[in-house]
Amino acid sequence: MNGIKIVGTGYAAPSKIVTNDDLAKIVETNDEWITSRTGISRRHHMAQGETITDMTVQAARKALESSGISVDSIGACIVATLTPDTLVPSAACVLQRELGLPMDIPCFDLNAACTGFLYALHTMECLLAASERKFGLVIGAENLSRIINWSDRGTCILFGDGAGAAVVESRPEWNSISAVLGCHGDAQILRVPGVETAERSLISMEGTKVFKFAVEAVPYCMDQVLAKTGMTIDDVDFFVFHQANARIIDLVVRKYHIPQEKYYKNIAEYGNPSAASIPLVIGELHEMGKVGHGSRVLVVGFGGGLTWGGALVEFA
Ligand code: UT7
Repeated sequence: MNGIKIVGTGYAAPSKIVTNDDLAKIVETNDEWITSRTGISRRHHMAQGETITDMTVQAARKALESSGISVDSIGACIVATLTPDTLVPSAACVLQRELGLPMDIPCFDLNAACTGFLYALHTMECLLAASERKFGLVIGAENLSRIINWSDRGTCILFGDGAGAAVVESRPEWNSISAVLGCHGDAQILRVPGVETAERSLISMEGTKVFKFAVEAVPYCMDQVLAKTGMTIDDVDFFVFHQANARIIDLVVRKYHIPQEKYYKNIAEYGNPSAASIPLVIGELHEMGKVGHGSRVLVVGFGGGLTWGGALVEFA
């Protein structure tokens, strides 16, 4: 099967910044607890009037610009999100209209919570293999501040908003991203009820259980991807982890002896923006020049569902 590589990236962060001290005015918490337990200092939340559409359009335009390809070449558009502006039309359909993407291509949203971007990359790889147009637009975007339970200090401190986008290209001579994806089908540990159900549609989470799941799921995904690709830790140029808690990342890099110059944390600035977390990291790294032409990046995510995913993502 054809493989995909990233040819352009972009990201967008909402304008409103919420500090730990701001949150200490709402719930019983403090900067010291949040920083030491999570690594988060601030998060970006959408201000009044800002939308997922604004974020996806900004991120996608930057990704298209950085790839140098025109919208006519795009063969599919997937937005990974659990917080679209509207359930129908999907965020991807709205984006298609805003960008003027071709009409005869699939545009849809995908929900795999924080693992959404990895699920979307794998889905895109399969779609483009069968498409005449060989470029795809993959986006992760969230407006989690809309569904935060502001009386729950265990969750309201964690989540942020934002979007990240990648333009990918498919070619028969390229390796597959070797995605490893899965889920447990758990309905309690991390939950956001649907609209108009008996429950309020807000995030609830048993944080310690997610933490325990994550510290097993991340190494599992890494080992699986390395086995599938026949690579070793040293062969990987950069590691991108879902930004859920700095302590999870610290545990993993210590376990695999990954040097500091080969991974990156932006959780202090953005908190956990779920499906936007991984593409925001990739977008920042690309902009800083830490990844680019030829880089081989091991990407790992986990989240509600409980879902997990890993892939070896290369830059063209
Ligand atoms: O994207 C994927 C989804 N999310 C995650 O991956 C999250 C993974 N989990 C975590 O990051 C951590 O479990 C949390 C940061 C959510 C919580 O940290 P923890 O070390 O697991 O704390 P805990 O839930 O065991 O709570 C310890 C104490 C409790 O007090 P008591 O019962 O010991 O008196 C909590 O009530 O800390 C208290 N606590 C807080 N205190 C101050 C919980 N949240 C706060 C807070 N400020 N914001």
